[in-house]
Amino acid sequence: MTKRDIIILPDPRLRLVSEPVATVDAEVRQLADDMLETMYEAPGIGLAAIQIGVPKRMLVLDVAREGEEPDPLVVINPKVVWESPELSAYQEGCLSIPDYYEDVERPQRIGLRFLDREGAAREIEADGLLATCLQHEIDHLNGVLFIDHISRLKRDRVMKKFQKQARFAEKG
Ligand code: NI
Repeated sequence: MTKRDIIILPDPRLRLVSEPVATVDAEVRQLADDMLETMYEAPGIGLAAIQIGVPKRMLVLDVAREGEEPDPLVVINPKVVWESPELSAYQEGCLSIPDYYEDVERPQRIGLRFLDREGAAREIEADGLLATCLQHEIDHLNGVLFIDHISRLKRDRVMKKFQKQARFAEKG
């Protein structure tokens, strides 16, 4: 496994729509393992492939609490098949938008179809933090960030902050 660099706002690649994975082969499994290592190292609870610059429809997550056994999940070509009408709010953050957190409301429960690390078709019902995390990561596959779900005023403010930081970094 190799730790990869995580791309940061305002990197334009974060706005790409990722392509479906054609075949779950050794290369895809290697990518999944690299994504898991990068996520654990960060540390974070979810990571989409585009966050390491790879525009493929896959994500990894682990919502096990501190002190619990790790519970890694590799999700390839996810498709949300239903959403609950009830919403729940969580304070979200993103490894590509470091040190910024804001409450986001999303469907509390979802049904999800996807391929796992072995390429097997799976269907799960997710709720709570797992449902939120899955929806946050699936948004990444469509070029959507959690700051797109907050007020325009707050989004403009955070965009400006990161644009300024990027300019500063360029100048060195
Ligand atoms: Ni994110």
